[in-house]
Amino acid sequence: MKTAEQLKVRTASVAEVTKPGAKLEVTKREIGLPSSRHVILKIQACGICHSDSFPIEGHFPGVKYPVVPGHEIVGTVEEVGPDCKRLKKGDRVGVGWHGGHCAICPSCRSGDFITCSSLETPGINIDGGYAEYASFPEEVCAMVPKQIESAEAAPLLCAGITTFNALRHSGARPGDLVAILGLGGLGHLGVQFASKMGFNTVAIARGDDKAPFAKQLGAKLYINSERQNVAEELKKLGGVKVALATVTNAKAMTPLIDGLAIDGRLVVVGADVEPMQISPVQLLMGRRSVSGWPSGTAKDSEECLEFAALTGVRPLIERFPFKNVNEAYERMMSGKARFRAVIEF
Ligand SMILES: NC(=O)c1ccc[n+]([C@@H]2O[C@H](COP(=O)([O-])OP(=O)(O)OC[C@H]3O[C@@H](n4cnc5c(N)ncnc54)[C@H](OP(=O)(O)O)[C@@H]3O)[C@@H](O)[C@H]2O)c1
Ligand SMILES: [Zn+2]
Repeated sequence: MKTAEQLKVRTASVAEVTKPGAKLEVTKREIGLPSSRHVILKIQACGICHSDSFPIEGHFPGVKYPVVPGHEIVGTVEEVGPDCKRLKKGDRVGVGWHGGHCAICPSCRSGDFITCSSLETPGINIDGGYAEYASFPEEVCAMVPKQIESAEAAPLLCAGITTFNALRHSGARPGDLVAILGLGGLGHLGVQFASKMGFNTVAIARGDDKAPFAKQLGAKLYINSERQNVAEELKKLGGVKVALATVTNAKAMTPLIDGLAIDGRLVVVGADVEPMQISPVQLLMGRRSVSGWPSGTAKDSEECLEFAALTGVRPLIERFPFKNVNEAYERMMSGKARFRAVIEF
């Protein structure tokens, strides 16, 4: 009989959620040796994304309880499976929303892993990053450039890659007027990416207290959606080519439609189950369109991280020790975090 040491079983402290609406509970998980193409990560930092409320509050299909939330994960490779080809012990990597795919559904066969019909997502149907150790397929790990420290890299694995990918596929070109709605975890990175991509960037958020941040992050203009009429303000500017909606509230997204230029596009990344109210006439007379964007793959994450290393895009973060994970989560949910809560190990 082999001992735990010989089998290299690691006991990891994790924060799990056992049912919708329950608090995060710190408990232990045994993590064995990685299977063929998996690696074990020793996690250094994990960002707290608003989508972590999907398993914690229970507003998402397919959550497998108990589950360890967290999909903005950065750590070092501790152990590699026997068939791993790329990673070695000590490599510093990140994992985001995409934690594994089936490889045989039509999406996967066309190379589109992120819409895989049985996508594995850390914190949804596999354990995520609120943990000292976790196991992931080698192929979903993105290399983290040395210029970016782990706690600052973590939010780039979801908030970063989502806004970076949505913007670079939006059709906007350097010089175009682009609006970013919301200045939370996603929005404050969206403003930075838009500005560094050369867009004439307008930030829109509630209240005046976020205005100085918006300018500091690269926005040329700030609209306070509580005080100003968003559609009218955007129309005065000639309408935006792209509006990126990062907020959690569908109703707050709808004024963007009338603020779009001819051929303008509303790109939705903020998740809400409520419907958006848009009339066909609002779309057809200006040839306007609405689309969504989900996260991305490890390759996209690497490109996002490289872009951030190159241009100086960094999240503004609040750091929490792992034991204060509930406090960190509440801070994000309260909307007070400036702008991403990150747990560190
Ligand atoms: N598409 C994807 O792949 C993807 C990836 C990650 C996250 N998400 C989703 O993106 C959304 C934002 O995530 P996050 O991590 O950035 O969240 P966050 O840091 O908690 O920020 C929340 C944002 O929502 C806005 N907001 C909240 N309540 C609002 C209301 N009643 N009316 C208008 N705006 C409101 C806030 O606006 P102010 O700035 O005005 O305060 C803030 O910008 C979430 O729905 C999340 O699930 C989607
Ligand atoms: Zn996320």
